Amino acid sequence: MAINKLADLQLQNKRVLIRADLNVPLDGVTITNDLRIRASLPTIELALDRGAAVLIVSHLGRPKAGGDNAHLSLEPVAERLHELLECPVVLVRDWRNGLNVDPGEVKLLENIRFEEGETKNDLELARALASLCDVYVNDAFGTAHRAHSSTHGIAKYATESCAGILLASEIEALERALANPKRPLVAVLGGSKISGKLEVIYNLKSVADTMLVGGGMANTLLLAAGVNVGNSLVEKELINDAMTILQTAEVPLPVDVMTADTIDVKSNAFLRLSDDIPSREAIVDIGPETARRYGKTIAGAGTVIWNGPMGIFEYPQFAEGTRKIADAVADTDAFTLAGGGDTIAAIEQFDSSNLIDYISTGGGAFLEFIEGKSLPGIEALQRNS
Ligand code: 3PG
Repeated sequence: MAINKLADLQLQNKRVLIRADLNVPLDGVTITNDLRIRASLPTIELALDRGAAVLIVSHLGRPKAGGDNAHLSLEPVAERLHELLECPVVLVRDWRNGLNVDPGEVKLLENIRFEEGETKNDLELARALASLCDVYVNDAFGTAHRAHSSTHGIAKYATESCAGILLASEIEALERALANPKRPLVAVLGGSKISGKLEVIYNLKSVADTMLVGGGMANTLLLAAGVNVGNSLVEKELINDAMTILQTAEVPLPVDVMTADTIDVKSNAFLRLSDDIPSREAIVDIGPETARRYGKTIAGAGTVIWNGPMGIFEYPQFAEGTRKIADAVADTDAFTLAGGGDTIAAIEQFDSSNLIDYISTGGGAFLEFIEGKSLPGIEALQRNS
């Protein structure tokens, strides 16, 4: 893709505005996972090293218009950035009447979604943001699927625009996996529902050599193949789509599954053949033989894209299938790319993070990219390059 990269620009004494995705999970004012903040550091540090004055813009959560949104202040994020960067990070609440930032300084604007125009891609807001900087850097891959003032509109007005280090590496990893993958390309897809993933499946089935399925989404495919899935969650309205997928793609279905009568942390898991599921039981994980076969396919892959757990991995008795897939993805010599909130949580739970080639910071953005959609945040940079 023809977009400018931060590393290629002259930044000395320039005001650099970095749109990052610092939308991290919070428990009160405690950040429970700072992955996105840490992923944003290389761009911020490069800008500082090159002598820039740094302004950071991010959203946090989805503030309600006119509501009490104090809990969505970026204050804890400013604090964490200060710790990680080891320099002061000033949180700026009122920047509309001008803002001064000197080379070597870092300022963080308050949650940009507190500005009503942000999610409407309001051009007046976009222009005001652009006026704060000489160089606009989009590093917010997690928000690249949103056409908002700080991810899209701003690029119309900024003197120079470019992709930050994180955004550029996300694009590179996704293109490596999708545009010209080392074959065979194996897509591992899980998660609770097929409905949210239909477009992903339709796009991947045209590029992937094999799709390995698990989680609740596999139930509807099993049903479409004529399997009695007992009391499992299924989306009957998608049965025709499921049949089309089975007829037009290489999708080996689970041959065995783990089931349970009830789904809670204390319930027992039973091993069943896929064609022998009692009517009162629901599928909660793939079985060991399926995990072994999937593992073999992953071991022989040239490229693996993984999105979605194989079962309810939050409960230990239903977690084995996802753990075995995490191990297989970690062990294969293939180029491996994983993304999505649940997938990242599983990878962290099973300690595979360091062994996977690329873990995307995007949730919805990652899915839209693998659906084959063009992301507005990336498009905006292309138009300006
Ligand atoms: C995410 O968490 O997926 C991104 O930060 C985008 O957030 P949004 O779905 O609220 O736009």
